[in-house]
Amino acid sequence: MTPNPLALIAEITHRCPLHCVYCSNPLQMMGAESELVTQEWIRVFHEAARLGILHVHLTGGEPLARADLKELVEAAHSAGLYTNLITSGIGLSEARLASLVDAGLDHIQLSFQDSREQGANWIAGAKTHAHKVALAETIRRFRIAFTVNLVVHRQNLDHLEEMIAFAEQLRPDRMEIAHAQYYGWALKNRDTLLPTRRQLENCLRLVGEAQKRLSGRIRIDCVVPDYYARYPKACMGGWGRSIMLINPGGEVLPCHAAGVIPGMRFDSVREHPLEWIWTDSAAFQRFRGEQWMPEPCRSCERRTEDLGGCRCQAFLLTDDASATDPVCTLAPTHHLIESLQLETRSGEERSEDVSWTYRLNPTREGRHVTLPPLSPRSN
Ligand code: SF4
Ligand code: FES
Repeated sequence: MTPNPLALIAEITHRCPLHCVYCSNPLQMMGAESELVTQEWIRVFHEAARLGILHVHLTGGEPLARADLKELVEAAHSAGLYTNLITSGIGLSEARLASLVDAGLDHIQLSFQDSREQGANWIAGAKTHAHKVALAETIRRFRIAFTVNLVVHRQNLDHLEEMIAFAEQLRPDRMEIAHAQYYGWALKNRDTLLPTRRQLENCLRLVGEAQKRLSGRIRIDCVVPDYYARYPKACMGGWGRSIMLINPGGEVLPCHAAGVIPGMRFDSVREHPLEWIWTDSAAFQRFRGEQWMPEPCRSCERRTEDLGGCRCQAFLLTDDASATDPVCTLAPTHHLIESLQLETRSGEERSEDVSWTYRLNPTREGRHVTLPPLSPRSN
């Protein structure tokens, strides 16, 4: 029997004032005209709660770009869901935050691109860092759980210690040090973002030290890039096992990136109840369980732990979504990951002249930008 999902990732819009080079949104985004309207999201939150979902993560794009965010928080809260707002903070005044907390917001996750203003603005492609720092102080005045999220990669790992100290003085309950994950825009920019093994090892050491030092005060979680792991991650806790993601237009996916897999059809909450999509839709059944697994996964004792790794990564790197995740050292295609590691080792840890593609807003083509205008080097 299929267990209940536990969490709903609600991508309520793809619109965003930032242009982060590692954004997990798909390259083809949806415009405001196709977004689910307020009443549709309200119905979905009640369906989610009836299905056994406990948490809703309101994300985007930038969820604050929706004028009806307060109504959405109120609806999710009244359905009995724990509500988490994942945000850059752009569009959040003290008054708006107060109204969201009144509406039942339980948790806020504020993301930072760097501890240094110029570097942060360079990575975001927008001058937003100073506002976020001021906002963190405002958030502390409310009785709400607070996570600071720092995304790390080859261009900022050289000052991770300083980044941890920066996050510490923002006084969050929790700090998340998340290595960029190579899907969407981050995959497009992988050559400049993928850290070296030396950087990763140094990162794990610094995080371990900070966890000890801040124990009992700030919880620190670290999300590592699985390109350096021996075995893959159980992506999303396994395909169709605990998480549903609804994109701005109402299609329901098992993960952020599943749209890249050819031939998949994602049913919409406009046409089907969430429960049917979870239990019966072809997309959620496609890689659920073990039936789809090839060798060596099929007879591997680790298959119940990592569930064969990430289907989207398998497709993106091998053109076959059913292949063993190439991150796995037992995969016949693991040489693809080894050659990426070799290329990274021979490159500089932090480049002087970085050229990357900024994430653009829906309906506009991604464009290649050569930097500066915003230089990372001068502070
Ligand atoms: Fe996991 Fe498959 Fe590798 Fe075994 S062979 S560790 S199940 S990815
Ligand atoms: Fe889709 Fe991992 S991101 S299964």
